Amino acid sequence: MKRLAILTSGGDCSGMNATIRAAARTAIANNIEMIGYRKGYAGLLKNEYIVLNSRTVSGILQRGGTFLQSARSAEFRTEEGRRKALDNLRSEKVEGLIVIGGDGSLNGALALDKMGFPVIGIPASIDNDIAYTDMALGVDTALNNIIYAVDCIKDTASSHDRAFIVEVMGRNSGYLASTTAVATGAEFAIVPEVELDLNEMCHQLRQRYDEGRTNALIIMAEGAGRAQEVADGIKNAVGFETRVTVLGHYQRGGAPSVFDRLLASRFGMKSVELLLAGTKGVMIGLAANSLTVTPLEMIVNGGQKKLSDDLLHMAEILGI
Ligand code: F6P
Repeated sequence: MKRLAILTSGGDCSGMNATIRAAARTAIANNIEMIGYRKGYAGLLKNEYIVLNSRTVSGILQRGGTFLQSARSAEFRTEEGRRKALDNLRSEKVEGLIVIGGDGSLNGALALDKMGFPVIGIPASIDNDIAYTDMALGVDTALNNIIYAVDCIKDTASSHDRAFIVEVMGRNSGYLASTTAVATGAEFAIVPEVELDLNEMCHQLRQRYDEGRTNALIIMAEGAGRAQEVADGIKNAVGFETRVTVLGHYQRGGAPSVFDRLLASRFGMKSVELLLAGTKGVMIGLAANSLTVTPLEMIVNGGQKKLSDDLLHMAEILGI
């Protein structure tokens, strides 16, 4: 192999840059040229790329986001768009592509694989809902961002005897909400996977309020309903003064944690090693701290990773 390419697609997250750096340096160590497409599949369709030499990727390990930039491309979802992408890869003499992204991006990677092009997928989504990996890139950093913010909010909650509903990301996934509920000592986690019984929650909060609890923290995933409705319900039924804080895109950025830097370095290095060994059409994952490879077909067709019942149970019991 003489030339490989890499791109970041879908929502950005911390650790993408560290992955690009690791993949580029592993390629360079094997005398292979690595190019990076700009703005994900959109850049591949426009044939916009830069050559990633040792210098281009220096100083990016500790930066959040993706210096190649990312995008969601509607054109790449069409048959015609995918053909064009394949033509561009071939005309630039690219022999293998590394795709860093979430479900949609891995779906695109599978399409290229089915068209006979060697592709390796790397899971990246703060939602941690990609199957066949314990952790995706960016999850750990997002969790750390959230607990930092929630700890700050907790100070105000206790100083003013308030209940705070903190909305975290996760359109379809309650992983961030339930994990950070445990890690911040929140009273409740509200997740899209479990239907909320607002009356029951208010009843339980009322009991604790009557027993003398002076403040409360509720972590709610963005896809689990309307935070303001929950706040109003608690205010009326319990008596707490309530506030809603939406953490938004603050959660996705910032310098990657040690965990994400190491995971990114391992994923990036492994992706090039796999292509060199002739492996293709797989996603790299992490299980019991070892790297795994799973056919992209299984990732895409297997659906979203299920939220752990143990985690939900823990959030419920420890929030009492
Ligand atoms: O999938 C990652 C994620 O951060 C979700 O948690 C969130 O719902 C979504 O992306 C937000 O997407 P966008 O940045 O396009 O608004």
